[in-house]
Amino acid sequence: MKQMVDLSTIWEHGRATLQTLWISIIFLLAPFAYLVLSQRSKSKSVASGRSDKGEAGSTAPDHSKFDTSNIRVTKILIHPIKSCKGTSVPEANYTLHGLDNDRKWCIIKTHNNAVVTARDVAKMVLIHPRIIPASSSEAGRLEVSFPKESGCETFSVPLNPTEEQLQDWENINISLWGKDDIEGYVCQTNIGRSPSEILSEYMGMPVHLAVRGSRQRSCPPTIRFPNLDAPSYFQDGYPLLIVSEESVAAAQELIREMVGMQGIEEKWSSDTLQVERFRPNIVIKGAGAPFFEDILTEFTIDSHHEAVEGASSIIRLVRKCTRCVLPNVHPETGVRDKAVPLKVLMKHRRGLDPGRPRLPCMGCNGVFTANGVVKVGDWIHVCETGFV
Ligand SMILES: *[C@@H]1O[C@H](CO)[C@@H](O)[C@H](O)[C@H]1NC(C)=O
Ligand SMILES: *[C@@H]1O[C@H](CO)[C@@H](O)[C@H](O)[C@H]1NC(C)=O
Repeated sequence: MKQMVDLSTIWEHGRATLQTLWISIIFLLAPFAYLVLSQRSKSKSVASGRSDKGEAGSTAPDHSKFDTSNIRVTKILIHPIKSCKGTSVPEANYTLHGLDNDRKWCIIKTHNNAVVTARDVAKMVLIHPRIIPASSSEAGRLEVSFPKESGCETFSVPLNPTEEQLQDWENINISLWGKDDIEGYVCQTNIGRSPSEILSEYMGMPVHLAVRGSRQRSCPPTIRFPNLDAPSYFQDGYPLLIVSEESVAAAQELIREMVGMQGIEEKWSSDTLQVERFRPNIVIKGAGAPFFEDILTEFTIDSHHEAVEGASSIIRLVRKCTRCVLPNVHPETGVRDKAVPLKVLMKHRRGLDPGRPRLPCMGCNGVFTANGVVKVGDWIHVCETGFV
C-alpha cells in the first residue's frame, strides 16, 4: 500500500525523480517476482524429492480429473504359489509380508533352487492351488490340483507347517532374479507321490515345491524410498500390487486401437483384457479416470465411506510395476499371446518408472505398515498423492 501512495504522490505533484520512480517499480513488482520464484522452487522440490517425473520428461499429473471420494476395492486376489493360478477372495488379512498366503510358495528347479515362473513355463498358470482353512478336526492345508488332461493327481501340503515338519524338510536358499537369499523348505507329504514328483511330471523338468522360511527377505529400495525397510516372500519384490479397473479398461481401449498393428490379432476387437493377467492383489475402482494409482502414494482401506482417524493403517505405494511378458499369458488357458498386452504397454506406458524408463508400467507396488484386513467393497481413503 505504501508504494501505491508513493506513486500517486509522485504523479500528482510531478516531483518524482527518475530514481524514486525506479525504486517504486521494483517495490511494486517484488511480490509478483516472489510468487513466481517460490512456485518454481516448489515444483522443483516435488520433482527431486518425490521422484523424477521431471527427468522422465513428463508434466505433473492432472489430479483434478480424479474423484477421490468414491474409490472402492472391487477384487482381492491371492496367488499362493508364485506364477500359478490366483484365487479371488471376499476378504484377506494382511501383514507386512503381504496378503496372507500370497506367494508363500514357489516352484524351484532342483539343480540350482532357482524360482521357475510362467515367463518360462506358461502352463504353470493352470496349476490350481486352493487354501483349505483349518477346521476343528483338521489343520489347514494347501491343496494343489492340475488340469485333467495332464493326468497329474491332486496333492496337499500343510498351510502352516509346524516346527517339527520343517525339521524334516530340507532347508534351502532360493534364488530369484539372480539373488539366492530367500530362505525356504522343500515341501513333503506323508501319502502318495511327493509334490516334487508330481510337479516335475507336470512341468517336464525336475522341480520342487518350496515354502518360505522365517528369515526375512527385504524389498529392494526404490528411488522415492532409498531406505525402504519392508519384507516380502516370493513376490517379485514388494508385498502389494494394486491396479485400477479404469486402467485395465483404458489398456483394453488402446489394444483395440492397435488391432492389425504389431501382430495384434483381430480377436482383440472384442476380447476382454482381464485384470487377472496383471496378477494384482487389490483391484480398485471409482476414481472416474484411468491410472489414478500412478499418482496415489499413501492411503488407507477400511469399511467406512468417510475417513475415520486411526481406523486402519497407512499403505504406501513405492514404485510403478514394470512389466514383462507374463501378462501375455491367458490366465485361464495358459496360452501366451504374441503381442497383447506387452506391445501396447510398450507403446503407451513407458517413461513412467524413473529407475527403468524403458520398461512399460501397469499398476503400482506397495508396502503395508501394519497388520490389517481388507474386504471387497471397502473404501480407499487417499492420504497423499504425488509421484511414485
Ligand atoms: C483374519 O484374522 C482373524 C483373526 O486372526 C481370523 O479370525 C479371520 O478368520 C482371518 N480372516 C481370514 C480371511 O483369513
Ligand atoms: C543360506 O544363506 C545364508 C546366508 O548367506 C547362509 O548363512 C546359510 O548357511 C545358507 N543356507 C543353506 C542351507 O545353504
